[in-house]
Amino acid sequence: MSKTNHFGIAIAGLGTVGSGVAKILSDHQVGDNGLFLKSILERDPEKGPAREWFQKIPEAFVNDQESILQDPEIKVIVETIGGTGFAREFTLEALKRGKHVVTANKDLIATHGAELCAKSQSCNRHYLFEAAVAGAIPVLSLLREYFQTRDILELEGILNGTTNYILSEMETRSLGFEETLKQAQELGFAEQDPTNDIKGYDARYKLVILAYLICGQWISPSEIYLEGIDRLELPDFEYASRMGRSIKLIARMRRVEEKGNNYLQAFVLPMMLPRENVLSKIDGSTNALSLKGRFSEDISLIGKGAGSLPTASAIVSDLNRVARNEKPIPLPSNTELFQLMPFNESFFRHTLRFEVYDEPGIVGMIGKILAESGINIYALEQLPQYHRIGDAERESVIFTITLEPCSEGVLWEALDKINLASFMIQPVNVLRESL
Ligand code: NDP
Ligand code: HSE
Repeated sequence: MSKTNHFGIAIAGLGTVGSGVAKILSDHQVGDNGLFLKSILERDPEKGPAREWFQKIPEAFVNDQESILQDPEIKVIVETIGGTGFAREFTLEALKRGKHVVTANKDLIATHGAELCAKSQSCNRHYLFEAAVAGAIPVLSLLREYFQTRDILELEGILNGTTNYILSEMETRSLGFEETLKQAQELGFAEQDPTNDIKGYDARYKLVILAYLICGQWISPSEIYLEGIDRLELPDFEYASRMGRSIKLIARMRRVEEKGNNYLQAFVLPMMLPRENVLSKIDGSTNALSLKGRFSEDISLIGKGAGSLPTASAIVSDLNRVARNEKPIPLPSNTELFQLMPFNESFFRHTLRFEVYDEPGIVGMIGKILAESGINIYALEQLPQYHRIGDAERESVIFTITLEPCSEGVLWEALDKINLASFMIQPVNVLRESL
């Protein structure tokens, strides 16, 4: 397989994505870009997608990292192992030994991006990760181009295919959360341990990377406010539909200039979106991003956010970039320092779902507590079909209130009191809409 003066590639981790890269490189690369697959690092070549490749090209398989790191023909390593342990150590060592690294590992970049990017610069090597955010959608390349003019002011996106699939199914087929999740697992959309997706961690990793490409600043994932989709129930979708809204897991960031300070508002939340918002129409496992630029104005990007070949296509585009350009692309360097806006200071239109043991005076008491915090009610709905006979024969009921816009801090001053009331079956569920 070796060719002189060409870009030998080693794939580390030949699972779903790594095998997609092998396939594109072997079957579909056209033109003389010099890229060729030289080695594959895999623990067990007899299982999963590696098996087929082990039968085709057993000579490419190695099981120790040294044979890749010491091979002068290997110029680029594709890291598709995943995780933040071995993958981090291996990437740092590869850069140190003069290899370029291309990856889809969003967990690693979001948590150790500052260290890895600095290392790649000091070693004068590429560290590229187009595939880590929104799969086949070339959003990072676009942001790298726009960084020079500090153009992008706002971004909101559907960055997780698994959760978007679940939300679309709940909305269109009126299936409950658990049932939809199980179906998504059976169809291979959701992993057996779906925590990273449904709790929003995956989308938050991607938002950290996008924020870096927009502002040149690494934010620690844990600093970004996050809520997942696992508290949503069918009445939320039914209410949203009557209000002309869809519910989507939205990753959002916005630059805010206030009193001479540069703030960055960033969060990942299930949100209500009006039907005219382009993201409200994104169904299934598709990803999408809406960007607002100072000069470029509105840009929408839609495409496949995951899967073997779509993700691999982004890796191969990075490999082509390395083959075209020996010099690493300069990092987005930060000239304005941004402070993360405390989530409590964010304003939304909030929709509250209450599930209570039915008794007289509940709405009155809630209204009084909201009024004490200066919060005005915009809409209120309690329908006959939401009455149930629950535990110990006590009647329960679900009702929903949409509030006039207020800050998160003011809202929680009231909700902390309401959640203590003895009639509350579970804490209020909050859905938000951007203003
Ligand atoms: P897989 O689990 O399918 O593949 C990872 C492969 O790496 C497995 O074959 C695994 O073997 C192997 N591996 C793990 N540790 C080592 C090691 N120490 N040495 C050698 N091989 C090792 O994961 P994916 O392909 O789905 O994901 C890879 C990366 O791409 C992750 O960072 C993921 O977040 C990212 N990504 C994935 C997308 C997708 O659609 N799947 C989309 C976008 C990004 P074993 O099974 O033995 O552990
Ligand atoms: N689990 C992720 C998703 C894979 O569902 O979008 C792509 O990063």
